[in-house]
Amino acid sequence: MGERDWWKEIAVYQVYPKSFKDANDDGSGDLKGIIEKLDYLQNLGIEAIWINPVYQSPMVDNGYDIMDYKAIHPQFGTMQDMDQLISEAGKRGMRIVMDLVLNHTSNQHPWFLESKRSRTNAKKDWYIWRDPKPDGTAPTNWRAEFGGSSWTFDEQRGQYYLHCFAAEQPDLNWANPDVRAAIYEFITFWLEKGVGGFRLDAITYIKKPERFTDLPPNGEDGLAPVGRASLNQPGILDYLHEMKARTFDNYDIFTVAEAPGVPAEQIPQFTGENGVFSMLIEFDHINMGVGSEQKWYEPMPWSLTDLKQIVSKSQHFVNKSGWSALYLENHDSPRSINSYLGDQAVKAGTISAKLLGTFYTLLKGTPYIYQGQELGMTNVHYPSIDKYDDLSSLNQYRSAIREGCSEQEALEAVWHFSRDNSRTPMQWSDQVYAGFSTQKPWLGVHPNFVRVNAQAELRNPDSLYYYYQKLIRLRKSSRALRYGDYALLKPDHEHVWAYTRSCSREKMLVILNFSDTLVDFPSSQELVQAATKLVLGNVSQRLPDHENKMQLKPYEARVYLVK
Ligand code: GLC
Repeated sequence: MGERDWWKEIAVYQVYPKSFKDANDDGSGDLKGIIEKLDYLQNLGIEAIWINPVYQSPMVDNGYDIMDYKAIHPQFGTMQDMDQLISEAGKRGMRIVMDLVLNHTSNQHPWFLESKRSRTNAKKDWYIWRDPKPDGTAPTNWRAEFGGSSWTFDEQRGQYYLHCFAAEQPDLNWANPDVRAAIYEFITFWLEKGVGGFRLDAITYIKKPERFTDLPPNGEDGLAPVGRASLNQPGILDYLHEMKARTFDNYDIFTVAEAPGVPAEQIPQFTGENGVFSMLIEFDHINMGVGSEQKWYEPMPWSLTDLKQIVSKSQHFVNKSGWSALYLENHDSPRSINSYLGDQAVKAGTISAKLLGTFYTLLKGTPYIYQGQELGMTNVHYPSIDKYDDLSSLNQYRSAIREGCSEQEALEAVWHFSRDNSRTPMQWSDQVYAGFSTQKPWLGVHPNFVRVNAQAELRNPDSLYYYYQKLIRLRKSSRALRYGDYALLKPDHEHVWAYTRSCSREKMLVILNFSDTLVDFPSSQELVQAATKLVLGNVSQRLPDHENKMQLKPYEARVYLVK
């Protein structure tokens, strides 16, 4: 890792293949669909595409339960399609980033089928098996991320196995060197295919604690979150360094690690010169509304200054060393206009989405745009819980009811936080099923597709799509925006977020009005005078400065080159 690396200079696009584009008309997206849309992504300025898992899988968790790491699920196509995707993307200057799920496999993976057969087979300790407590109950009171106990009893073997996520996703035993060697083998298979990098799923769960003990419960089910026992455990870096040395180090790729449980203070240890990954996917900003206990029906109030504090803390460490994955949306989170700005902003239209785009893509790190974010797609409100597909939505709904919420309250919590908000089919046009497919899609299309769609965006020079294109170009053209240090101005201002990015030769100033009202930004005289050249903004007519104050329209964003 050097000071300058190709992956620090690019914008990444995340494709959720099941919902991106259906080329074979079965209601579900596929690899050929992604190939069809490569020009669209190239035109946006994208240079790497992270695709969520497309491996052979029973699809209990939409592909995060893998039964064969070297095969493509037929729903998505064939290995030939995958090779074609890598090569077609390559022709357009884009690299494919695969999702690596290494904490767990599917319970249908041959390794698990063998492991559960007996206590003596060759793979007997490839997973994490424990005897029941003397009363026959689970070995500990840990709650899986998707709800319920994180232990499931297997009749055949007569023991419990651990799963941090669904029961169909048993955790691998990383303490076993044979398991690690098998993992490195299939990683190398993909490296040899010429992928541009990997996104490492739930990687901070892989190291289990020395001792398995009950923890203080935090719910009426008497359970405690499994993350408290298995996230970012001491010794995890040893495994990660070994994996890096045996796989990634030998190729010119980048790695982006999903890293819940890693505090900002540890960014330099995990990334940076002596780190393991190129960059981290952090969680503090995404979890802000749900809090550490992750109960959707007990949302946490937060303010802009809280968000500034969280993001600025991470940026502070990235200034020192290492790198960050910049994102506001992904396949696990609701849409950003809803979560960060709320209903008013949805009504205000693209200006608010342009504000958010300006805000996060110009921070220090590599920006990730999640499919549909460049169109301003928003949260969906399905009328009843049976329209939802996402495992965690169904579990959260059940827990909400169990803990005393009404059906309506439980549904509203799901509206707000469901992972299906970002999994609705991509809105390509105002045609039937939003141009995603000619058949009924696996998940309901958001009804606003008639207005919010790629075709309309591409026809309108002032659209959000073209605004993202400008942001990507701006970042590419400015050394300060790629490598410059971040500094927060006016940390306590409740409506405006202002920051600078500076390197030795250049300084940029970003000013963002997060509120839905007109705001006088009480900048110092020096600041207003310094802000000489506006290089990007999201309103067509700015209000004049007065008495050394900038008058910012609702959701206005400005980017200045500072003299
Ligand atoms: C990660 C993925 C999520 C998945 C989970 C289990 O958090 O992003 O979609 O359900 O890991 O693999």
